[in-house]
Amino acid sequence: MCGIVGYTGPKEAYPVIIKGLKRLEYRGYDSTGVALLDGSLKVYKKKGRVAELEDALVGKDLHGHTGIGHTRWATHGEPSDVNAHPHQSSSGKLAMIHNGIIENYVQLKQDLINKGYRFKSETDTEVLLNFIEEIKNNNHCSLEEAVRVALKRVTGAYVILLLNTEEPDTIIAARKGSPLVIGIGKNEHFLGSDASPMLEYTKEVVYVNDYELAIVKPDELILKNLGNEKITPYVQKLDIELAAIEKGGYDHFMLKEIFEQPQTIFDCLRGRLDTIGETITMSGIQQYADQIMKANRIVMIACGTSWHAGLVAEYIFEELCRINVEVEYASEFRYRNPVIHPGDVIIAISQSGETADTLVAIENAKAQGAIILGVVNVVGSSIARTSHGGAYTHAGPEIGVASTKAFTAQLAVLTMIALKIAHNKGTIDQERYVHLLNELSEVPSKVATALKLKDQIRILAEKYKDARDFLYLGRGYNFPVALEGALKLKEISYIHAEGYPAAEMKHGPIALVDKDLPVVVVATKDAYHHKVVSNIQEIKARKGKVIAVISEGDSATAAMCDDVIMVPEADEIVAPMISVVPLQLLAYYIGVAKDYDVDKPRNLAKSVTVE
Ligand code: AGP
Ligand code: GLU
Repeated sequence: MCGIVGYTGPKEAYPVIIKGLKRLEYRGYDSTGVALLDGSLKVYKKKGRVAELEDALVGKDLHGHTGIGHTRWATHGEPSDVNAHPHQSSSGKLAMIHNGIIENYVQLKQDLINKGYRFKSETDTEVLLNFIEEIKNNNHCSLEEAVRVALKRVTGAYVILLLNTEEPDTIIAARKGSPLVIGIGKNEHFLGSDASPMLEYTKEVVYVNDYELAIVKPDELILKNLGNEKITPYVQKLDIELAAIEKGGYDHFMLKEIFEQPQTIFDCLRGRLDTIGETITMSGIQQYADQIMKANRIVMIACGTSWHAGLVAEYIFEELCRINVEVEYASEFRYRNPVIHPGDVIIAISQSGETADTLVAIENAKAQGAIILGVVNVVGSSIARTSHGGAYTHAGPEIGVASTKAFTAQLAVLTMIALKIAHNKGTIDQERYVHLLNELSEVPSKVATALKLKDQIRILAEKYKDARDFLYLGRGYNFPVALEGALKLKEISYIHAEGYPAAEMKHGPIALVDKDLPVVVVATKDAYHHKVVSNIQEIKARKGKVIAVISEGDSATAAMCDDVIMVPEADEIVAPMISVVPLQLLAYYIGVAKDYDVDKPRNLAKSVTVE
């Protein structure tokens, strides 16, 4: 939920850190700070965004070859200068930044107060830092040993980076439940919540695992477990480019990512979908294909937009594979004491791969014998590494807080998994299998066609941007698309929007319909089309404004609507990847028309790594 950066080496640390923090602001941005070590320890921090910190530091002593930086998303203690990270220990010798939540900090804090400690902030982080210092002083041990002892006694999630005035070129780092990447340079090392702060310096990285601790010096990286046993770092070579991180000429990351979808869906299919050989190759799924085929049920576990992808997948898997599918909000699933049978297949869907509720939900299910498959975007992320198998969505870094390209990539992967299983099971015939392979392969170009509607949609956004409420309706495969469209609008424009199954109108929501209520109806050609048309007529009869997403050429439906957005026709199973695009654009352009920060909407952060 926050961004952390560290550097130690021959460069001045501050420029590396401040640039890295800017790349990580999407992870949280209510306050920022840096600590620099050159013998003396300098800590600068304040409420607000990185640019505000940078302005405040002009003229300050920013010298130091070792340093850490943090951009916060508060969990304990409101956003403020004093609650900003880095925190300094009581002695002033240690400085620490932290991503996560220390769940037992209240008891720890009370124990420390009883020993005479006083606290400046309200954060759990400062408690952990002084707990570490107390152990170091009490046990007369090294900082590294004190960290190990302390972390065995805290519960919760953390990535911590620690500086110690007694070890001026060293950063001590540890993680459990929050992400940490270490970049390997020539006589220098970089640390980050993801690889974006280090990409321009090195492509060689080590993903630190839970319960691991790293001692990082300019020319040495030592990795250990909390049992003080050395671990050989597994160095991976990154294949994402810095340009993939930057905006690429678009006004916002969100718009860039919406327009990347033809390419990202293609990248997702690449090397897996073969319409000539009529095969689907997914090694991370293949090894579990039998278990999936024999599964009594599949449980999709996710949050937010990823949960909507799971809802689409429910329709696809039940239709094609004839396997019972349940779709669960991770936060509900993990606390409900669910019934899990060994052999149940859980599909965890997550863009970031770090969503705390999804991560813990699958850890619990895994402990009860379920098979966990991850459909994740961030390579090496916690959910990916907790899963037995799965498939990456290869959508590239998604910086905009509102998920767009990750959603369509999730649908592409889930559709391929369902097709592969249905073909193996024989629940679809060869003709339908080949038809759907071809339909899937045509999605990138149909999405590209839908994107050409952007100017028409921008005009619609101007027309409807002042509405107080929106209703989004769809049936069947388009019902989750309606939910996703409503979520996009809420997130980006702060307008209240609800998604509903179209048939539910009669059970209450139709009372909302009047001349001021725009109703977005996803009514592309499918098995339910004639029913949705009736729903449109019910709305018009009550003077509601209908904005319909319909299939090209559907002039009959167009004639009954106030505004229509025509998208290329496609098989209902792949249609959601296309019909969602105009809804993404509508939300984006309304947010822009209302002059909101569409990449960093208020109250939200890109990755919810705390409960
Ligand atoms: C979607 O636009 C939101 N940013 C949010 O609902 C998001 O989908 C949710 O937090 C899940 O994130 P994940 O996919 O990274 O697990
Ligand atoms: N729990 C810590 C705090 O509230 C860290 C939050 C974060 O991950 O940014 O300061």
